[in-house]
Amino acid sequence: AVERTLMLIKPDAVKKGVEGKIIAHVQEKGFKLVALKKLRLTKEQAQQFYYVHKERPFFEELCEFMSSGPIVAMVWEGENAIEEIRKIMGATNPEEAEEGTLRKLYGTNIGENAVHGSDSKESAQFEIPFFFSRLEIVE
Ligand code: CMP
Repeated sequence: AVERTLMLIKPDAVKKGVEGKIIAHVQEKGFKLVALKKLRLTKEQAQQFYYVHKERPFFEELCEFMSSGPIVAMVWEGENAIEEIRKIMGATNPEEAEEGTLRKLYGTNIGENAVHGSDSKESAQFEIPFFFSRLEIVE
């Protein structure tokens, strides 16, 4: 089925200046960019976005990092987009990610791993409206 998924280019990848390369990579895989913005999260907003991880030992570090600089938020649309874009991103830890995946290409370590993508339909349904209103998502 055609799905939509939220993807973030994290502060490490924005600092490296590889936003354009990441966007082109996902486009070349056949997905359609239906929403895009650059912004900086406050720490409180990062905590709200990642609330499912609030009991994890890395939660504090994660929210500190995600609010440390600008990010790029996107919505991608396409066949089986949630799972397919997770494949394109590769394993959470760039050291374990397959060759040619975004995290292998642009990630540094498990925290600074270049990109985030929704991991299920339920998370996409929370994450897309977290960043975008209906008017900002263009068919
Ligand atoms: P992401 O897809 O954004 O979802 C949650 C994030 O938590 C994950 O990518 C990692 O960047 C981060 N994360 C997971 N495990 C660790 C860890 N052990 N230490 C720091 N960050 C982590």
